[in-house]
Amino acid sequence: MSIKTATLNGVATIEIARPEKKNALTIAMYAAMAEAIAAAVADNAVRAVLITGQPGIFTSGNDIEDFMQRPPGQGSDAMDSPVFRFMRALLECDKPVVVAVTGAAIGIGTTMLLHSDFVYVSDEARLAMPFVSLGLVPEFASSLLVPQLMGHARAAEKLLLGEPFTPEQAVEFGIANAVLPAGEVVNHARRVAERFNALPPGAVRGAKRLLRAPQREQVLQTIRTEGELFGQRLRSPEAMEAFQAFFQKRKPDFSKF
Ligand code: COA
Repeated sequence: MSIKTATLNGVATIEIARPEKKNALTIAMYAAMAEAIAAAVADNAVRAVLITGQPGIFTSGNDIEDFMQRPPGQGSDAMDSPVFRFMRALLECDKPVVVAVTGAAIGIGTTMLLHSDFVYVSDEARLAMPFVSLGLVPEFASSLLVPQLMGHARAAEKLLLGEPFTPEQAVEFGIANAVLPAGEVVNHARRVAERFNALPPGAVRGAKRLLRAPQREQVLQTIRTEGELFGQRLRSPEAMEAFQAFFQKRKPDFSKF
């Protein structure tokens, strides 16, 4: 199983563990993560959720073979797909979500941080949202939240050019809380998650809901709008060229489009 879960001392840990594919997320892995978040919400003994990866890699994003062979459905079908179920579970999780970004966080690996509460990044990590380079468009409200966080000019670098950014920049932009040495990031994130054992859970849930409430409707609407276009783009010749180029380990050629 490439998602490992464990609950210990009030913290439900979701560990992405598919290092041979750089922790690329498959349909089955999204489904497992959605279930793990739902179980954490339902379990009174859980006070916080911790999401983590492997040393040197948090996740290389959606599995590109799944993108090619088994893309999420379009329109309302897409909303039932495991990736949407996972992101909806994350958005609706009323317990604090702490993320230890143990290494590279690509695509949805960065997008999910926008919907988490505490983000600690290894000093060896890089973050990137190379949707356009893959013939795709931003997803899960990144087109709304990234420009809000860093301004349009810098968002254009990250979302149009797909430029990677450093852990320090992630902190500067307000995406992450702190940069930690690679060997300490998971323990630090766990200690933050464990602090919720000493706090009143009802007040934590209420405060988390309030923090997200002002933008909730706009975020959900943006996710639907992006999802429509994303579904179309996944089936586009531009995306096919990008996916094939990735597996053939060559540069994509977009000159014919
Ligand atoms: N989907 C499917 N397979 C992936 C993958 C992904 N997102 N990311 C990596 N892999 C696979 C590679 O195909 C390779 O498989 P192989 O050993 O069978 O050839 C293996 O994982 C190792 O990847 P590799 O590219 O050789 O490792 P690297 O250390 O040189 O580079 C990354 C690591 C993460 C920078 C690079 O793999 C990458 O750019 N991945 C794609 C990221 C991406 O565009 N994600 C989608 C965002 S929307």
